[in-house]
Amino acid sequence: MFDVEVIRKDFPILSRHVHGVPLVYLDSANTSQKPQAVLDTLNDYYVNHNANVARAVHTLGSEATLLFEQARDKVAAFINAPRREEVVFTKNSSEALNLVAYSLSNASTTPGAERFRVGPGDNIVVTEMEHHSNLVPWQLLAQRTGAEFRYIPIDEQGRLVDSAIDERVDEHTKVLAFVHQSNALGTVNDVARLVGRAKAVGALTVIDASQSAPHRPLDVQALGADFVAFTGHKLYGPTGVGVLWGRYELLAAMPPFLGGGEMIETVDMSGTTFAAPPHRFEAGTPMIAEAIGLGAAIDYLTAIGMDNVQAHEAELTTYALQELMKVPDLKIIGPESPLDRGATISFTIKGIHPHDVSQLLDEFGIAVRAGHHCARPVCVRYGIAATTRASFGIYTTTAEIDALVAGVIKVQEMFG
Ligand code: ALA
Repeated sequence: MFDVEVIRKDFPILSRHVHGVPLVYLDSANTSQKPQAVLDTLNDYYVNHNANVARAVHTLGSEATLLFEQARDKVAAFINAPRREEVVFTKNSSEALNLVAYSLSNASTTPGAERFRVGPGDNIVVTEMEHHSNLVPWQLLAQRTGAEFRYIPIDEQGRLVDSAIDERVDEHTKVLAFVHQSNALGTVNDVARLVGRAKAVGALTVIDASQSAPHRPLDVQALGADFVAFTGHKLYGPTGVGVLWGRYELLAAMPPFLGGGEMIETVDMSGTTFAAPPHRFEAGTPMIAEAIGLGAAIDYLTAIGMDNVQAHEAELTTYALQELMKVPDLKIIGPESPLDRGATISFTIKGIHPHDVSQLLDEFGIAVRAGHHCARPVCVRYGIAATTRASFGIYTTTAEIDALVAGVIKVQEMFG
């Protein structure tokens, strides 16, 4: 049974006080807090097993390699990947997405990689609600290759304009990259619709699942995309580790992104051949402790059950939308309906800058984020400089949402 009070006890930081009052942490979309099991795993790794992986044959080297590769197995099971070799460890989502974008431009000079080439006459499509990590790499790819950069616009409610999908994604589209759940709006996109259109025109599909992986079951086979990226630190794991999942037959044919140690098959002064995936894309000493810590976070979430996580957060979202919408002069930026949306709620308050809202809420112990949330085109779309954003996680309670609403009303009173 899902018991939020039991879960809260697993997160030591939640018993902290800020400015003399109990912490109300509503910034999990920015980064999540870490359960004791993850902290213990990191400590155990460094205290008992620390060594480099896939290089040392001594006992510690074997133990570290085993733990690191077991973490890969845990990720593969968590996302229902058909093969463990489809899981590439990266530094974060940004690196995972850049990996795909740079591999595609490296294809322009790689014999045998013609199918991945992008150039003039082609187009690359994203959406207007992308985090910069799934927008800038594609703008840069377009600049490097001469392809056209396009986007699917969003409507007043923070949903994609459906009619634009068929118009913007056409027979010249090479890549459709889109966010599963928006970090700025909370919108959950219709993956089947988007992937279906991309497949119909033969485009590659890339999903940024950074904000969905921590909040709902993620099944890469059901999503049907070619690549899925997410990060560890939003998934109750450490910073410094992310994941790129890709279809094996694509990864096996793609040129590398970064060159270096352990990504090669053989090297001599006349040239290099490359290892099979995932190692082809993991140059240099990887984020060993962090990947193992991510494995511990996945064990923790799996024991709770992602269906239970999703149900808990759906209740929180419904409650928070209902309570926030009662506050005078507060406008939700994003879907006002809890349907197809996640537990991330952005809002503005008439006459008060979001940075002031956030700073004053902090005085009451409430941590929220203010700004454009690294998705600036969303703010541009709505003609605003910034929003205040509250985002929830497995440890969030309705009492914390009440504290947020009371805090917002207090801020309004302070501004008269
Ligand atoms: N850290 C970014 C956010 O807060 C992604 O949404």
